[in-house]
Amino acid sequence: MAKHEKKSKARATIIGIDIGGTGIKGGIVDLKKGKLVGERYRVDTPQPSTPEAVADAVAHIAEELGRREGAPDSGTPIGVTFPAIIQHGVARSAANVDKSWIGYDVDAAFTERLGRPVEVINDADAAGLAEVRFGAGEGIKGTVLVITLGTGIGSAFVFDGRLVPNAELGHLEIDGHDAETKASAVAREREGLNWSDYSVRLQRYFEHVEFLFSPELFVVGGGISKKADEYLPHLKLRTPIVPAKLKNEAGIVGAALQVAIHHKLAT
Ligand code: BGC
Repeated sequence: MAKHEKKSKARATIIGIDIGGTGIKGGIVDLKKGKLVGERYRVDTPQPSTPEAVADAVAHIAEELGRREGAPDSGTPIGVTFPAIIQHGVARSAANVDKSWIGYDVDAAFTERLGRPVEVINDADAAGLAEVRFGAGEGIKGTVLVITLGTGIGSAFVFDGRLVPNAELGHLEIDGHDAETKASAVAREREGLNWSDYSVRLQRYFEHVEFLFSPELFVVGGGISKKADEYLPHLKLRTPIVPAKLKNEAGIVGAALQVAIHHKLAT
């Protein structure tokens, strides 16, 4: 077999890095399978989580993963998630992160720090992309809403497989409250709610979102999606609602996927 033929059969991979409030996790993503090649690599999120400290942690993860077998070439763009509105690479909100991120050009600063292109995407948008391509929303026509329950509430609005970015449905005002302060996974812990009480909060949240958007499907992500049996059966909605399939890896896979989509790389 000629050398170039061998190369074209090589696995297409992209590094994805998921920035969260407590941990920053990275992995090499196989774009065909939507799965990680090898183990994911995690470091604690620096405190305070200033842009400079987080950039250093992301650079460290990229170096570690870049040395591994199956890593893409060193000039290949890296996909990164961030838990805020991201428009043209710039953070435009900071609900649960250091306020110094607002107005920060994450793409430009991380690209300079890492010495290779970095493309940032909202964390829930990344999870949403991953779920509709490889997970619970695969092949669904029409509107799919991926809602992540964590420190805040994240949302991805996907129509016919295409993402409408920065939906921010966690900040809907419901009964006079910013929704995520009442219905996120952290709100449940903070208030010591049992699953039945928490289900009442989720019912109120999801019925409102359903009323506004009439989606075909809700996909529930975030760490708490592992416990979906505790609350999803209590919800009475006309829309099917299912747990995310990619669990811990959705952000990493979605971060890589958005780079692949942007650069029209094989997926
Ligand atoms: C932020 C979103 C983010 C979500 C989940 C919200 O508070 O506004 O941008 O996607 O938390 O991290």
